[in-house]
Amino acid sequence: MIGLDQLFSVAGKVALVTGGGRGIGLMMTEALVASGARVYIASRKREVCEKVAARLGGADHCIGLGADLSTEGGVVGLADELKKREDRLHILVNNSGMAWGAPLEEFPWDAWNKVLELNLTAPFVLTRELVPLLANAGTADDPARVINIGSMLGTVTKSWTAYSYAASKAGFHHITRILSNELASRHITVNAIAPGPFDTEMMKQAAEDEAARQIVADGIPLKRWGSAEDAAGAVLFLCSRAGAYVSGAVVPLDGGATAKS
Ligand SMILES: NC(=O)c1ccc[n+]([C@@H]2O[C@H](COP(=O)([O-])OP(=O)(O)OC[C@H]3O[C@@H](n4cnc5c(N)ncnc54)[C@H](OP(=O)(O)O)[C@@H]3O)[C@@H](O)[C@H]2O)c1
Repeated sequence: MIGLDQLFSVAGKVALVTGGGRGIGLMMTEALVASGARVYIASRKREVCEKVAARLGGADHCIGLGADLSTEGGVVGLADELKKREDRLHILVNNSGMAWGAPLEEFPWDAWNKVLELNLTAPFVLTRELVPLLANAGTADDPARVINIGSMLGTVTKSWTAYSYAASKAGFHHITRILSNELASRHITVNAIAPGPFDTEMMKQAAEDEAARQIVADGIPLKRWGSAEDAAGAVLFLCSRAGAYVSGAVVPLDGGATAKS
């Protein structure tokens, strides 16, 4: 049995975290870097990713790239950039995402499609493009990992008017299970993390209003929002040797909210 420090370590691994420059993606990037991985982070705001990468120690630890994942060209371009720089990718965290809320009667066609494209089509295509690099990195004992950031809204049957968001995340959970079966023989595991409320840009409206913040917390059995430690713990478990035998799981990271529903 290896030591506990090794069991939960990702030292020496190469990772890509989409949307790693802020929010939950940043929480996970910081954890992966602190545990010894070299992490690429990519999103539309290249300068934000580059600044974060510099703060986390520069090219030996973190590299910032620009990528608009709302288009096929942006997704394939990011995969090509990775292929130019690396032969192996041990960890892919499909984290970039967006939400849209509107009453059912007014829900716009465009908003439906935009959300589906970024939250579901883009990570599917990015994974497809990066399978060769992931397969190069995975071994029977320590497979490569795809971590899809889903949502509690992809599991519970309540939308809070985020109809396309909830549908995109439910689809993301389902494709997670499908790909876990299809990629297992290439030593790649595929899991989803389904967060409850975290204090990020996406949840700004609720997070910044004290009353709304409390209502959200009250709806969670553990009576609080998620923290950076919660995000770090989940991603390190799934990406280290400790999580090597887990595949096809949708891990609720929501203070018990999904089980309550
Ligand atoms: N916060 C929560 O309570 C919560 C709950 C459940 C699930 N989630 C999920 O967690 C993930 C991260 O969300 P967050 O809460 O951290 O929100 P956030 O702070 O708004 O972060 C979203 C990230 O996605 C990136 N992004 C947005 N559009 C993009 C595009 N077209 N191309 C590439 N990257 C793009 C953003 O970077 P740029 O703006 O630079 O592109 C940013 O880094 C999402 O998948 C979200 O659905 C969040």
